[in-house]
Amino acid sequence: MEVIIVPSSKEIGALAADSIEALVRNKPNAVIGLATGSSPLPIYDELARRHADEGLNFSAVSGFALDEYVGLPSGHFESYREVIRREFTNRVDVAAENVHGPDGSTEDLLGACQAYEDAISAAGGIDLQILGVGTNGHIGFNEPGSSLASRTRIKTLAEQTRQDNARFFDHLDQVPHHVVTQGLGTIMDARHLVLVAFGAGKADAVRDFVEGPVSAACPASILQFHPRATVIIDEAAASKLAGAPSYRHAYDNKPAWQGL
Ligand code: GLP
Repeated sequence: MEVIIVPSSKEIGALAADSIEALVRNKPNAVIGLATGSSPLPIYDELARRHADEGLNFSAVSGFALDEYVGLPSGHFESYREVIRREFTNRVDVAAENVHGPDGSTEDLLGACQAYEDAISAAGGIDLQILGVGTNGHIGFNEPGSSLASRTRIKTLAEQTRQDNARFFDHLDQVPHHVVTQGLGTIMDARHLVLVAFGAGKADAVRDFVEGPVSAACPASILQFHPRATVIIDEAAASKLAGAPSYRHAYDNKPAWQGL
């Protein structure tokens, strides 16, 4: 796992965007895993800027959302498929038919989970998966206790997560209790994981998943088993990392040719 500590969320966005730009220039039909929440917004802002100002081309790219609420009608403002469209794919030239998300509005949720796994496989797998981390260490909506080998499935949200996400709704009562999420095994199949986090509110979760034991109690800790996991965080999110000086030293001395 590579841990990169930068001054602010703007640099997080720029560095993650560099990695995505390098991927897309090298493989125009790249498959990108897209996360919601506030953490990836600086990445999407920077990619939208590069599209507008520098002509960065996403016309052959496909996107797969990490997760979705169950029970929000399709097209609901807070449904993750809409959030992904609004925050990223509609701001660049990703074709609408290439934007995928688990279907949380169908009666056949089990079928939708399998269909989503099949769609990711049919696209050739995910090249680069963007991730945030919840304050309780979740990735996607894989709450503590999730199987480290899990595939796309239905989960019940932890109350902490509902409260964290209530800011996107008018009232806590409106936050669904159930979700469909890529599993930890699904996420681990992506060829490159880029997890971003900023702010002091993430410091405990970052310490636990970077330096704590690999455990279902902290789902993001599964990244320690990934051959190519990049963690880009700001100073505040890094503030509880015992190894911060050595992560800084390694990054400062990284060969330029290596990229992320
Ligand atoms: C949600 C999403 C996660 C995201 C997490 C953190 O629960 N399902 O993918 O990482 O929130 O959100 P934020 O980045 O807003 O802190």
